[in-house]
Amino acid sequence: MVPRLESFFKPKTIGVVGASRNTTKIGHAALKNLLISDYECKIYPINPKEKEILGVKCYKKVTQIPGEIDLVLVSVPAKIVPQIIRDCKQKKVKNVIIISSGFSEVGNHELEEELKAILEKSNMRVLGPNVMGYKNASDGLDASFVYGRARQGNLSLISQSGALGIGMIHLANHEFVGISKIIGVGNKIDIDDDDLIDYFAQDSDTKVVGLYIEAVKDGRKFMNSIKRCKKPVLVVKAGKSIAGARATASHTGSMAGSDKIYEAAIKQAGGIRCRDIVELFDMARALAGQPPAQGNRIGIITNGGGLGILLTDACEANGLVVPKLSFKTYKKIDKILPDIVKPNNPVDLTGDAGFYRYEASTRALLEDPNIDGIIVASVHGGYARPVEFTGAILKMIRGRKLHEEYKKPILATWIGGKEFEDLVWDLKSAGVPIYPSSWRLARSMMALYLEGERLKREKEAG
Ligand code: ACO
Repeated sequence: MVPRLESFFKPKTIGVVGASRNTTKIGHAALKNLLISDYECKIYPINPKEKEILGVKCYKKVTQIPGEIDLVLVSVPAKIVPQIIRDCKQKKVKNVIIISSGFSEVGNHELEEELKAILEKSNMRVLGPNVMGYKNASDGLDASFVYGRARQGNLSLISQSGALGIGMIHLANHEFVGISKIIGVGNKIDIDDDDLIDYFAQDSDTKVVGLYIEAVKDGRKFMNSIKRCKKPVLVVKAGKSIAGARATASHTGSMAGSDKIYEAAIKQAGGIRCRDIVELFDMARALAGQPPAQGNRIGIITNGGGLGILLTDACEANGLVVPKLSFKTYKKIDKILPDIVKPNNPVDLTGDAGFYRYEASTRALLEDPNIDGIIVASVHGGYARPVEFTGAILKMIRGRKLHEEYKKPILATWIGGKEFEDLVWDLKSAGVPIYPSSWRLARSMMALYLEGERLKREKEAG
């Protein structure tokens, strides 16, 4: 375990500097989020003018609080922050989150350097400045000032952008992607992406790590932390275009750097680069719920020939292959198809395919040693109702025994309207990896293949 960050994510005592009675202030929201957390700890509001806020005794200074302090949230104007950090250092506070903006992101490098100088010769860990804080959904602690509760799960997210981080919480909830922890890193004067990757690598509540980055401070440390992490690491790196890099500099004051170098470094370290946040969630859903693919040979089952071709193209464009069926599998599937078609890959079950054809052909591909991953697709054809397709998917994907026996991922997609939407909603809420586009599905299957390759390399290296 990264020892110091254990008390950062699971503090027993928390102070809030800049806590306020004024409900419009960030310091009020931060204190309230702590108080409504489903988490046992001692909370100390700090405000020089108040005796009590939200029913909790208030202290004038950090140094006046009795006992050890594991974590302090700071929400006072930037110019006061250095003095607060000095107080925290004197009090031997273990961790600090500086919510306040007004540092290097607005060109105020001097003030940020002052903070760094104070931190010299101190064991205190500092997140920020210019951050939202974090939400630890696994333990029920909200150490942020932002509204919204994350659905509990096993994806841990690191975001260099606070606002995007907030959006990610709500998008993840909407997409039924569960979160263990989500944290904003802001200007990264101390706690950096690599520290957090190291922590999440050893955190038993985290299964997949996701990052939104604009720039990293130390490329080598960043790469090594991804390399060390024995869990999938998904990276959205922004600032690819010249205009995007310019926007990066004014957003968090960081230099986007050469995109080609980032691309190569992430790949070499064993991370998976995602094109955007939606793709990160798509891949996270697949990685969290499905076994990795042992190879890149994909079997496709569909009731619509056109959708099968689109999926084939999307797979091939993303480093996957769609091989011909083995004779044995051909024979098995031939038995369940109507006479008008012959089995192929993609397997076209034809427009009237119901529950049985989907289930039996998926099972045939699971049993085929030449297939590493399976895609099951349906177009709203009008003969069999969509519920037959979704029923078959639910049975196959959630069948624990099938997973244990064959260790092959199954992903699903559909083309259709309202009737399908309602059923897909149910599937998503049950954790089924189902995607509204061939491309999004193929990219997620690619992630499962890359994870399978990473695990093989890890095993070879011992
Ligand atoms: N110790 C403790 N409390 C103090 C001290 C002190 N030394 N000095 C002042 N305070 C109190 C103030 O009196 C006030 O309390 P009050 O309402 O009872 O008077 C409280 O601390 C806050 O101070 P204000 O001067 O009122 O500052 P305000 O709350 O307006 O703004 C803030 C502070 C929120 C930190 C602001 O400067 C800021 O940086 N805002 C941006 C924050 C942000 O967006 N961060 C990035 C997040 S990431 C994202 O994008 C979501």
